[in-house]
Amino acid sequence: MIELPLEEEGRSTRNLDPCILVIFGATGDLTGRKLAPAIYNLGKDGMLPSNFACVGFARRPKTHEAFREEMKQDINEFSRTKPIDEPFWKNFESQLFYHQSEFDSDEGYERLREFLDQLDSRHATRGNRIYYLSVQPKFFPIIIEKLSKHGLIYNPKEETNRWSRVIIEKPFGHDSASAAELQQNIAKHLAESQIYRIDHYLGKETVQNILVFRFANSIFESLWNYKHVDQVQITVAEDIGIGTRGHFFEEEGLLRDVVQNHMMQLLTLVAMEPPVSLNADAIRDEKVKVLKAIRPFTKEKPFVRGQYGPGFVNGVKVAGYREEQDVNPQSSVETFVAAKVLIDNWRWAGVPFYLRAGKRLPKKGTEIAVIFKDAPGVLFNLQGRKNDPNVLAIRIQPDEGIAMKINCKVPGPSSPIQPVKMDFRYGSYFGQSPPEAYERLIWDCMLGDSTLFARVDEVEQSWNILTPILKHWAEQPAKNFPNYPAGSWGPKEADEMIAKDGRSWRIL
Ligand code: BG6
Repeated sequence: MIELPLEEEGRSTRNLDPCILVIFGATGDLTGRKLAPAIYNLGKDGMLPSNFACVGFARRPKTHEAFREEMKQDINEFSRTKPIDEPFWKNFESQLFYHQSEFDSDEGYERLREFLDQLDSRHATRGNRIYYLSVQPKFFPIIIEKLSKHGLIYNPKEETNRWSRVIIEKPFGHDSASAAELQQNIAKHLAESQIYRIDHYLGKETVQNILVFRFANSIFESLWNYKHVDQVQITVAEDIGIGTRGHFFEEEGLLRDVVQNHMMQLLTLVAMEPPVSLNADAIRDEKVKVLKAIRPFTKEKPFVRGQYGPGFVNGVKVAGYREEQDVNPQSSVETFVAAKVLIDNWRWAGVPFYLRAGKRLPKKGTEIAVIFKDAPGVLFNLQGRKNDPNVLAIRIQPDEGIAMKINCKVPGPSSPIQPVKMDFRYGSYFGQSPPEAYERLIWDCMLGDSTLFARVDEVEQSWNILTPILKHWAEQPAKNFPNYPAGSWGPKEADEMIAKDGRSWRIL
């Protein structure tokens, strides 16, 4: 785990302050699958503050007991540690509460303030608050405005004895203009240091390890540039479809859902310069510089987009995107994106970064592959036989690890050369599976450490890159959708794009 310094002034230890976590959208899918298990596991690992309470805020009427029971069921189903630890749960559930209200009801927020004050007296939580907005994006400004109006957000300059922080789920905006508008609205009530824009990829151990790998080892950094790297391929492949998220996906599409945030984070971490320190702003400054150096896209060279039709994934017949629940049967929303990105700075001039992300691909796998230039074509490259290039593959998930492909002599007198893999696997080396991303991120927010959250200019910059593509796609709906069968590696245009450069996609 990287020990990163804390951002807020005056906090010099990693001791946690007491606090109350309020989850807006507490009956939603994300709370059940991710947030409830994350809080439970933090508690089990002794990583919650000793004085802590969690309040679920949602619109449906429910008792505290019913809410606890639902959380228990979700934890039983989705937690990385199972079955639920009954003696621990007995104590833990007494810290869980439910608050029913509409998101725009003044009366509901008044009751919330009173309730949180009562919890402060009972649980000694000292007025510290985290508000987790796991709701549809249209509610972000309303909730923040109401929290502020009802004295639930404190001005950090005026109040130094207690703090309030807001975690905002993605997507932060829908394009450049809406992200700017959202930022303008929330900045009326919150200082930047109080805003935690979550991208759960940053909470993944393997994503954090990119920085350690690059900057705590001296051998790779000198090779990490246009002189030695031929290309970089970043893949975020999923075998699942869109499940019950038809409404959401019809609004967002894959570019907004995965590329604008997760892929851009991976790209910036791989491409950034060494930061001057591990301070949150120092790291984020370098990431923003990468985004600023990305060559703008033109209509002539747009991203490749795709949408899955019916097919077979892992031998099981699955429906096409247009047949999924809550999806328009004529939808031109993309479920696959491929692109060639160029970073016009000294380190990366001329090195293509190929990005590929999609739903209903043959398997789940997130990988960053740095592919090095060929060895000179003498000695072992004679007789027209080309050796494989060296590849450094960072497997983000599953089977987290790092592999290096090198060429090796096969034993025996005839000396054929064969590529082999040096492979480091987290699971077998450390003997444990890494904690869930949400555990780390909620914990960091409790500490006031925003290193692993997106800063406003990162988000803005990433939208600036992608908004022209979104506009172009909106003006020219895809005519050939669906253009790849579920269970394949995407449309042929993605292969053609990379083949034009004399390269091909890696096989995962
Ligand atoms: C989410 C997207 O942010 O990330 C989903 O909304 C996607 O569509 C998910 O499936 C992938 O996350 P992970 O951690 O499974 O790679």
